[in-house]
Amino acid sequence: QSLLVPVIAVDGPSASGKGTVAQRVAAALGFHYLDSGALYRLAALAAARAGVSWDDENAVATVAQTLDVKFEGEHILLSGSDVSTAIRTESIGVGASKVAAFAQVRAALLERQRAFAHVPGLVADGRDMGSVVFPQAPLKVFLTASAAVRAERRYKQLLGRGEAADLGAITADLEARDARDRARSVAPLKQLPDAHLLDTSAMDVDAAVKQILDWWYVANRR
Ligand code: DC
Repeated sequence: QSLLVPVIAVDGPSASGKGTVAQRVAAALGFHYLDSGALYRLAALAAARAGVSWDDENAVATVAQTLDVKFEGEHILLSGSDVSTAIRTESIGVGASKVAAFAQVRAALLERQRAFAHVPGLVADGRDMGSVVFPQAPLKVFLTASAAVRAERRYKQLLGRGEAADLGAITADLEARDARDRARSVAPLKQLPDAHLLDTSAMDVDAAVKQILDWWYVANRR
């Protein structure tokens, strides 16, 4: 069934802006949206709350398999409590990147991600949307930006939320997380040969959204 649902896979590194861009593309097309990173963040948060170490693959995989999650618009509920803000901290981001390196954790979340593919279509944002979760996606985008630009964006985002932020520390953290996401043996972050490269270092959100929509219309004209 899901093979009939068109999917736009948007993969790329942390703080590249792909979440914002992917949501805007989904809204423009009336498609559903999957924030797959949120699932890894939820697994990390649920593990921490259950006293499970992020280094314990078996235990984290069990947590991931039994996650009680509801996506209600902007709000994400974990076992009934709103964790939309709690999953966005830097520390949970690091935990997500750690647990995401485990094959059993990724396997535990696979079907949950595929279940988001409903008519009329889905825009899926993550690291392995085009390679593993939706390899049949008719449009794959690798959305990135230079490390300096991404660090700057994350820095402004944290300041905007009223959180303390240090540009040097953010840059170091982003680089460490990207290195871990690229180097892992299962489903590493990489640009696929069939993915369109979208470097947004010198591009605003509107231009990035327009580029993806243009690719989508061209792909569907055939
Ligand atoms: O996109 P994000 O920053 O919310 O993702 C958090 C972490 O989850 C990221 O460091 C890598 C991991 N992740 C993944 O391995 N595969 C995905 N499809 C999405 C996220």
